[in-house]
Amino acid sequence: MNKKKEIVMSGIRPTGFLHLGNYFGAISNYVKMQDDFECFFMVADLHSLTTHPDTKELKGNVHRVLAENIACGLDPEKVALYCQSHVHQTGELYLYLNMLAYKGELEKTATFKDKARLHPDNINAGLLTYPVLMAADILIHRAKYVPVGKDQEQHLEIARTYVNRFNHRYGEVFPEPVAYNFDNKLVKVPSLDGGGKMSKSENKLATLYLADEDTDIRKKVMKAKTDSGPVENNSKKPDYIENLFLLMKLVSTKETLNHFEDRYNDCSIRYGDMKKQLAEDMVSFISPIRNKVNAILDDEAYLQKIMKHGAEKATEHAEITMKMVRNAMHLNYFI
Ligand code: TYM
Repeated sequence: MNKKKEIVMSGIRPTGFLHLGNYFGAISNYVKMQDDFECFFMVADLHSLTTHPDTKELKGNVHRVLAENIACGLDPEKVALYCQSHVHQTGELYLYLNMLAYKGELEKTATFKDKARLHPDNINAGLLTYPVLMAADILIHRAKYVPVGKDQEQHLEIARTYVNRFNHRYGEVFPEPVAYNFDNKLVKVPSLDGGGKMSKSENKLATLYLADEDTDIRKKVMKAKTDSGPVENNSKKPDYIENLFLLMKLVSTKETLNHFEDRYNDCSIRYGDMKKQLAEDMVSFISPIRNKVNAILDDEAYLQKIMKHGAEKATEHAEITMKMVRNAMHLNYFI
């Protein structure tokens, strides 16, 4: 008999071009999980409305995120790849979870505070309840593992709080979801300027996008912050140098990485050489993905088909959960 696969769920907002942070924090894990788990991956278009109310570019952005996921190796036949707004059951669960969510807790969420600071004239209720909608995305599939980057850890903690409140109040329906990374540790891919992380909307000149042209990749890497080099053998690396090594670890061979580690440790490192090598390895990593994305984007009929198929799979699964939820909450008056 086939062992029932454990359930995995995750999502990405269509708020701009995807970058190396999205790749290593999220998508590379999706790809590694797609054979052994039952996977639900979506484009979080509703979440994007909390900060991007102008929807003129939404369709193009949704298509791009789908294409970027597929170009990175996600197989829409193996996973449910869908759009958040196509699964209407999520809205219903979001409503119920809102009754288990306290305003004071939501106001303390780091992402709420950051976004409220960035958009002081649009602190809407959707922004405040962002983690509730995210919990609904995960719980609608009763997912156990949620592959995400380090920045989403607090949202997962909040989702677990709602699971416990729900299960305690209405009976056991949901497992506790955990943030997941294949290498155990959640990752934060740093920006090239030594401050902050790679991001779809901030730090654009210090972020490497999957859509970047080769010349831009080279330019950005060559501009990365360095210094005049270590003066003592085996000294501790400053953060911005550590970051360069981290990027090298992600895209270069072990030999290359070891070579520059050794040069660093015996103080003979030349950062110009290191960055040149990193830039070339980065180009080799990104350019095939970029080319595949462009080919997929040219085939709108294919993308429509993927979206429809994904929505059907995800909706069917979500409805099973909602039946359990309505029963547990005694909202079924006809039975
Ligand atoms: P979003 O769209 O900001 O990011 C998508 C994924 O990329 C990861 N990520 C990073 N990882 C490492 N280093 C970085 N510099 C970096 N930047 C982004 C994020 O951690 C995320 O995994 N709230 C989510 C979207 C969402 C979701 C969900 C996720 C909506 N519903 C349900 C999981 C489950 C977000 O804004 O991701």
